[in-house]
Amino acid sequence: MGKKVQCSYCGQKYTRTQFPEHLEKDHEGGYFRLIENIMSDFQNEFDVKDIAVNNCVTEAFVKKVANQSTLQSMLLIKEKATSYSAKKLDIRLWEPENFNLETTTIWSFPDRGDWATHSGKYRGNWSPFIPRNVILRYTKEGEIVLDQFVGSGTTLVETKLLNRKGIGVDIKPGSDKTDPT
Ligand SMILES: C[S@@+](CC[C@H](N)C(=O)[O-])C[C@H]1O[C@@H](n2cnc3c(N)ncnc32)[C@H](O)[C@@H]1O
Ligand SMILES: [Zn+2]
Repeated sequence: MGKKVQCSYCGQKYTRTQFPEHLEKDHEGGYFRLIENIMSDFQNEFDVKDIAVNNCVTEAFVKKVANQSTLQSMLLIKEKATSYSAKKLDIRLWEPENFNLETTTIWSFPDRGDWATHSGKYRGNWSPFIPRNVILRYTKEGEIVLDQFVGSGTTLVETKLLNRKGIGVDIKPGSDKTDPT
């Protein structure tokens, strides 16, 4: 039967057969991501066994995805993923209005910042103005930003918006689950 898979969203353990069913039922965004990862592994010509191992699912599930992987079903998955995100999120603004880079050691923001997916929901998350200032001051487009205490992923959202590559690490499984991007 093999080792169980720990869900990175909720921390529960599942068999490789149960894992995709669990994602589909409880973390829809994660399920779409799984399907997209499997499809992209196919495009990179990995074999079924490696794709199953990489994605913590059974070979039977990989084959099932492969059988459905016509262009049409890819489009359907993308459409579903888009409507899923649009339904869950009410994004009014992608960037802060009238943003000015901080130039002194005393920083002051007009509000905490609620553009893109940002909100104060994750306990202890920081204002997106903070990573935005640090990223713009210390990195160039295309560079990598590492956040070792990623929490809800405020920094990762900012790296994406500012065309940097983000890597996030957190000791708590599923800590970025409040961030559906
Ligand atoms: C204050 S939160 C970070 C919030 C983040 N800046 C945001 O805006 O969402 C701190 C995070 O660090 C994580 N953490 C604490 N100790 C850690 C460790 N030793 N290694 C990795 N992550 C850790 C916690 O699980 C928590 O999610
Ligand atoms: Zn889960």
